[in-house]
Formats: sequence, C-alpha cells, structure tokens
Amino acid sequence: MIDLHSHFLPEIDDGSGSVEESLNMLTESKRQGVKACVATPHCTLHRPDDLERFLLNRGNAFERIKAAAGDSDIPEIFLGGEVYLDNNILKNYDGIERLCFSGTDYILVELPRRRLDKRITELIFNLTVKGMSPILAHVERADSDELDEIGIWDLDIIFQVNAESFLNFSSRRRLKKIFAGGGKFVVSSDMHNTDTRPPCMLEARNISKNKFPRMTDEIFYINAANILKTASL
Ligand SMILES: [Fe+2]
Repeated sequence: MIDLHSHFLPEIDDGSGSVEESLNMLTESKRQGVKACVATPHCTLHRPDDLERFLLNRGNAFERIKAAAGDSDIPEIFLGGEVYLDNNILKNYDGIERLCFSGTDYILVELPRRRLDKRITELIFNLTVKGMSPILAHVERADSDELDEIGIWDLDIIFQVNAESFLNFSSRRRLKKIFAGGGKFVVSSDMHNTDTRPPCMLEARNISKNKFPRMTDEIFYINAANILKTASL
C-alpha cells in the first residue's frame, strides 16, 4: 500500500511529537504493508513568507528522520503538504505548486472549517487550471449537504478518505453513500501519532475487502500507485 496523507514528520504540526514517535509510526506502517508514505504536514498560508518557512521546516524535519532512521525498515518517504484552502490562496501565493507531492503534480488540499460555499469549488478548480491535480483530504468528514450544494462531486479530482473511517459502523455507512455516488477515491492513514490517531491501513483494508470487495484494490493500491507513478505496492 501507499499512504498519501500522514503527519509523521516530527514537531512540525499536531502530528508526531518526536523523532522516536515518527520512527515508531513509520515502522508500524511498514509492518502493516505500507511501502511508501507521503509526509503531508498541515500547511496554512496566511502571509507571503509562510510558504518558504513551511518548506524549510519540512526539509529540516525530514533530515532529522533520515538521520535517525539509518537502515531501519521503514516505508519510502515522499514529501507533500496538507494545504488549507484559504479564501484567496491563488491570488496571494506564487509557488504553491511547490507543495505538490515529490515529482508529481498532485496536491493534497483540506476544506476550510466553516460553512462551505461555491468559492471553494472555484478555488479547487483554479488549482487544476494552474496545472495541478488536487486530492481532497478526508472528504467524508465534511457535511454532505454542503458538499452537494457546492458541486464538489462535479470536480474531476481525487477524493481521499481516512483509513479510520472504515473501522466503525456509522462512518462506514457514510463511506458507502459517498462511494455510491461515483468518483475516484484513495484511502490514506492521516496518522498523527502512535496512540489516539495511529496508522491503521491494514485493519481498514481488511474491513474493506469484506465490505467493499470490488473497490478495495483500486482505493488501497492502484489509485495511489498511479499518483506516485510507482508500481502498485
Ligand atoms: Fe491530515
């Protein structure tokens, strides 16, 4: 499997609190069958120098992990970000394409925590006009009526859902409804730590094999592999 959404880089956001925790998250991911993992720390761009600062902090955190990992058995690491969809992101920030996953034009974006309106759909569409391929983070968390109202499902983008949403009945029911509407989906961990939001890709995949048998290969393997342009891992 490939994990496209995770917060394992140490001390950069509300994810891993130490290098040790980061390595534990990565080791556990590998044990579960995750072969590659994209680091997607939260990225909020309010001021013009926020992008440079984010890239610098991300690079430093990555170097710490590389140095500490040595020859530990961890997934291959790619770099990205979870970009908060702010109102005027494209007007104010040149270089946002630098937040795309390493070597690709895919960018992970997160809906704002307020009532959604059509400007959001426009914003995501504008990313595609700029040549990027947006992946919408944990779409199942947003209000379903609001998503319908703003026409989110009409966008030709990839929708990411969290592995933990497979684990209980009510969130699984929500997934079922979303999947029935059609679209391209990918499952990622959105892991933040080793206790309250740990990696759970394997458990999710096993449940999916039972509950969504015809989709499982596509949403756990094929779509993510196509995004990173690697063999299906
Ligand atoms: Fe996240």
